[in-house]
Amino acid sequence: MAGKRLGIGVVGAGRWANWAHLPGWVRDGRCKLIAVCDREPDRAQAAAAQFGAQVAATDYRELLKRDDIDIIDVVTRDAEHFEINCAAVQAGKHVLSEKPVAHDYRDVRRVADLAAASGLKTKVGFTFRYSPAVRYLKGMIDRGDLGTPFIYNAYEQNSQWLDPMSPLRSGERTGEGPIRVASLEGYGAPVIDIGHWYMGSDLTSVVGTMRNFVPERMILDTGKMARANIDDGDIFIGEFASGAICSVQTSFVTVGNYPGIEVRVYGSAGAAIARLVEEFGICETLKTAKPDDVEFREVEIPSSYYPPGGSPRESWRTLYYANLTANFASEVLGEIEGNEGNFGDGLWVQQVINAVEISHHERRWVSLPLDLQEAVGQHGNAGHTGNAGHTGNAGRAGNAGHTGNAGHTGNAGHTGNAGRAEGAGQDERQG
Ligand SMILES: NC(=O)c1ccc[n+]([C@@H]2O[C@H](COP(=O)([O-])OP(=O)(O)OC[C@H]3O[C@@H](n4cnc5c(N)ncnc54)[C@H](O)[C@@H]3O)[C@@H](O)[C@H]2O)c1
Repeated sequence: MAGKRLGIGVVGAGRWANWAHLPGWVRDGRCKLIAVCDREPDRAQAAAAQFGAQVAATDYRELLKRDDIDIIDVVTRDAEHFEINCAAVQAGKHVLSEKPVAHDYRDVRRVADLAAASGLKTKVGFTFRYSPAVRYLKGMIDRGDLGTPFIYNAYEQNSQWLDPMSPLRSGERTGEGPIRVASLEGYGAPVIDIGHWYMGSDLTSVVGTMRNFVPERMILDTGKMARANIDDGDIFIGEFASGAICSVQTSFVTVGNYPGIEVRVYGSAGAAIARLVEEFGICETLKTAKPDDVEFREVEIPSSYYPPGGSPRESWRTLYYANLTANFASEVLGEIEGNEGNFGDGLWVQQVINAVEISHHERRWVSLPLDLQEAVGQHGNAGHTGNAGHTGNAGRAGNAGHTGNAGHTGNAGHTGNAGRAEGAGQDERQG
């Protein structure tokens, strides 16, 4: 594909598409934004006009039929991702999907396997993997600068919904009943992904708990306060196959600014802290220490880790996403090898989320990978149906690693999560 300009079709023209995805694609001269689709015609037309797409559509299937579109970028709300991801892969498109690829890890496996069998590249919107600080630290870990990684600590937390009057967008999240996953999925996914990537090992066991701290909230659909028994704070600990351990804490009702990520790695030869919190006009810092140091020292991140024109003074939304879309374009064009942060990685992350969910409800450690008997849906999510052909390997790091139903075609048979709280995006309140 060398020398070709990639055609891009974006599905969903809401806030996150306008803030992060569309600016990323148009910043990259190797990509041509062809079409923007949104159910709401005004949104599709406004984004197409602003970002220079020739087509504004209301039905994503129009985009799938076009030969001039190579990559479909899915930025709709969580509940719509799975259907569009499956249809795009079946149409032979490379796919960038906002997280989650699907709510149930078995659905993620189906679409990941289908993409792998079709030789298509996929990418999950794991925004923070593409932060210059996080990527630079990954290089340090891989070079052995920190020695053997012992402990990974991660946080994603900010005060996005601390105020009960900040509206939740979906009435589906209201009501009593078992607590529904929200922060663990919306906020946990990116830091679970980074832990997997940094530690170079799979989690074998997790135990965790979820809480609802703000019981009543304003619901956008109705404009009324309602009970919303969702997880707005959670903590889990885990054991990696390598012998390393981790702790992960997420919440959208904790004081602090966006995006609110902090990841720490402690190894036999050193330690590092990447802090992605917009403070004092800077969106990230990286600090490291050697065994004899008493304090962590700030590390300068080389300019090659930034997109053209980028700096730590840029908004994290456009900065990280420009790196993400450029990385995906390089992979699809064959300019770099591999396919990092793909649906296989999404599958691994979703299994961890589902396992913590089970751990909370059943008050016990849960082993990974999840086996077929682990009914993720029995705690408030409606009717599981399919058998995902689970083989015990989460298929991480590259499409080649998938072990499940590589031959899946047709509609992948959603396992069903009708009762789920839609995962929160990182950034739904600030404009
Ligand atoms: N990775 C991150 O850091 C991050 C940050 C924020 C949001 N997100 C994710 O991005 C996604 C979008 O969030 P948002 O805040 O932009 O939501 P939004 O509601 O502002 O935008 C979603 C848009 O999708 C459109 N849409 C829904 N179904 C559609 C369909 N079938 N076809 C075409 N258009 C459709 C809606 O009309 C809407 O305009 C969510 O999944 C969210 O979790 C990720």
